[in-house]
Amino acid sequence: MRRKLVAGNWKMQGRQASNAALLQSLKAQTADWLGVDMWVAPPAAYLMQVAGLLQGSGIALAAQNVARENDGAFTGEVSAGMLVDCGCHAVIIGHSERRTHYGESDALVAEKFLKAQEAGLVPVLCVGETLDEREAGATAAVVRRQLDVVLAAAGVAALAQAVVAYEPVWAIGTGRTATPEQAQEVHALLRSRVAQDDEAVAAGLRLLYGGSVKAANAAALFAMPDIDGALVGGASLDANEFVAIARAARVAQ
Ligand code: PGA
Repeated sequence: MRRKLVAGNWKMQGRQASNAALLQSLKAQTADWLGVDMWVAPPAAYLMQVAGLLQGSGIALAAQNVARENDGAFTGEVSAGMLVDCGCHAVIIGHSERRTHYGESDALVAEKFLKAQEAGLVPVLCVGETLDEREAGATAAVVRRQLDVVLAAAGVAALAQAVVAYEPVWAIGTGRTATPEQAQEVHALLRSRVAQDDEAVAAGLRLLYGGSVKAANAAALFAMPDIDGALVGGASLDANEFVAIARAARVAQ
């Protein structure tokens, strides 16, 4: 059975004081009942701080991005080896904000995916269509292409050590969530694409939904057969909301 996972993507938000307060509340509220996987992805600047604060908790650390290159003369970049050294378990790869604002191509995303896995990190591969693409009926083609590039570069076996997040771009930070049925349709499509290459890997692959997930809509999303958790942006900065989402995941587990 796939264990539910809720991952909080803090994006470029936080300060030492607010990070500490948020984590203290998360830890206090989850100490005796967690039962699902919970990850938090703070900005790179705070990875060390958060790693320290998470010690002894059941919450794991993730990064939001990784360099394509190994250590060397790449000003401003953070390598996969550094993320491991900072205590990261996982890393978000190909978030739509990186694809859109920083020009990350499918090919670069695949390279980063490989680099993360080589270092022992669990990549959380983000895929998702824009509103224009959805309205043009291209959703299936877009997410399949985004997944296929990684399958071609890494092979299906690599997905046994990865997570895929379906994040429709039109639902991110907009308050507009995909309906559970819309999300399920894409999740089922992604799983069946992986099953074409390897049924066992497909059956074990955790597929997260992301895009305006909050306590109020989490339970309905998690009730869908192919939705194994959530990648949560805004609501992960509010400890009570994020814990309520994790609780919904646990109920659906
Ligand atoms: P949101 O962000 O929950 O704020 O919509 C989700 C994400 O971008 O991962």
